[in-house]
Amino acid sequence: MGLLDGKVAVITGAAQGIGFAIAERFAADGARVVIGDIDEAAATTAAEKLGGSAVATGVRCDVTSASDTDALLAAATERFGALDVLVNNAGITRDATMRTMTEEQFDQVIDVHLKGTWNGLRKASAIMRAQQRGAIVNISSLSGKVGMAGQTNYSAAKAGIVGMSKAAAKEMAHHGVRVNAIQPGLIRSAMTEAMPEHVWEGKMAEIPMQRPGEVAEVASVALFLASDLSSYMTGTVLEVTGGRFM
Ligand SMILES: NC(=O)c1ccc[n+]([C@@H]2O[C@H](COP(=O)([O-])OP(=O)(O)OC[C@H]3O[C@@H](n4cnc5c(N)ncnc54)[C@H](O)[C@@H]3O)[C@@H](O)[C@H]2O)c1
Repeated sequence: MGLLDGKVAVITGAAQGIGFAIAERFAADGARVVIGDIDEAAATTAAEKLGGSAVATGVRCDVTSASDTDALLAAATERFGALDVLVNNAGITRDATMRTMTEEQFDQVIDVHLKGTWNGLRKASAIMRAQQRGAIVNISSLSGKVGMAGQTNYSAAKAGIVGMSKAAAKEMAHHGVRVNAIQPGLIRSAMTEAMPEHVWEGKMAEIPMQRPGEVAEVASVALFLASDLSSYMTGTVLEVTGGRFM
């Protein structure tokens, strides 16, 4: 018995990294998954890796676009007949101190994280409200809790996702829809592997568990929030950080 047997989940930014690990974990627990990503070829390859069309489908979606988001969610109902879970995971970084950050870099990060999450959240909420059930998981970041130098754009967006999740949780609770957020810390992925070594080492020194997290360790918390194991939880923010900035 899988925790998501018979359920259909949409995960944004799931062609690689944390999103793909979530898709993999959900599929292993019985879900059929729709992998949304701005990189269409990578989304298709990711779906094939999960076992192909009976289990997964890849859809090109830029989360900043409301119409792309509509099409992504429609793929879940058209291909698999339902929408039970949405994970808003797609993300980018454009790190720079305020002295050098351009307005474009600020806007890009706010758009993908805040507007992108809002697009998924409001459109999935409309579908889930009609069926009176559903679970939404938003991927924030520890940067949104403590603020990181060089990330005024990203920290603001990730803190905004917390407020957005709580507001939506209050709007949707009596419709049977739960909305929760995850704040990962330093997780080994393409996003963090791009960091200069001295930045990586600085972050490592802050982690009581003295190691980075693995994408599978975020995926298992997403599974918990997506499944009935967390049936009485909404509006929460779970930290997956090895104890960093507790
Ligand atoms: N890796 C970490 O340490 C860490 C820590 C905290 C939070 N996060 C968050 O976790 C999420 C996943 O991060 P990751 O480390 O797996 O990153 P990643 O760069 O490996 O993957 C991000 C994915 O999002 C996709 N994407 C980017 N822009 C998109 C858009 N506009 N529309 C749709 N898809 C888009 C990319 O193509 C990619 O497949 C992000 O929201 C990130 O901010 C990561």
